[in-house]
Amino acid sequence: MSVKKDFKRITTHSLHKMKAIGEKITMLTAYDFSFSRIIDEAGIDVILVGDSASNVMAGHETTLPITLDQMIYHAQSVVRGKQRCLVVVDLPFGTYQGNSKEALASTIRIMKETGAHAVKLEGGEEILESIKRILSAGVPVMGHLGLTPQSIYKFGTYQVRAKEEAEAEKLRKDAMLLQEAGCFAIVLEKIPAVLAGEISRSLSIPTIGIGAGNETDGQVLVMHDMLGINHEFKPRFLRQYLNLYEEVKGAVEHYIRDVKSGDFPNSTEQY
Ligand code: KIV
Repeated sequence: MSVKKDFKRITTHSLHKMKAIGEKITMLTAYDFSFSRIIDEAGIDVILVGDSASNVMAGHETTLPITLDQMIYHAQSVVRGKQRCLVVVDLPFGTYQGNSKEALASTIRIMKETGAHAVKLEGGEEILESIKRILSAGVPVMGHLGLTPQSIYKFGTYQVRAKEEAEAEKLRKDAMLLQEAGCFAIVLEKIPAVLAGEISRSLSIPTIGIGAGNETDGQVLVMHDMLGINHEFKPRFLRQYLNLYEEVKGAVEHYIRDVKSGDFPNSTEQY
């Protein structure tokens, strides 16, 4: 187990300071202890325990099936791996939309059972009551606007959102409502870069973009996409930093060859 280092913990206030001084915020998803430890030690500012776990960990086509219990399991593992970064957990589909009391109850379970620092909810005006109730209990909330994957069956596709003026105008208003309600940051997913820049400049809280250009206050990617584990997913906004799918596959093929040929274990690899 690693020794505790002298480090400065990232808080929601640190993110506000970063925006104020123009330092970009870095966020990646993680879902387990081992990757959380690597990502935290690399110096990431925020780990998002995203409901994208439904896709990349559980193999579902959408984020809708993942449950609150499953999100809690992932968040507990991530919290055990981190020392410095802020940990934000997605409230999964069906645990906050209908009823603000249920939203608070789901949040309280996440906060009590995982040790995470904040929650993220998808949507604007339509979920404002839930956001306000969670904030009134003292829990920091990150908003999420633009392409909100929990609404995929309403959108019908994962295409860029808010290209039309009416949707762009609703997004501007929603962003302002979330800031006024007290959200500490907002994820802007898959919207035109110009609109994301305009919204980011209009807000005092930080925006964190994914597929939203370079003028947001920070960036987030799904870890499996940027490491090339999810190797067939190649949207335009993604920069793939590794081809871990090929690396791991190659290593496993090598291991299979070594065992089949009797090369592994050799005399130094036994007792
Ligand atoms: O669940 C997730 O990974 C997310 C990011 C794409 C922002 O919400």
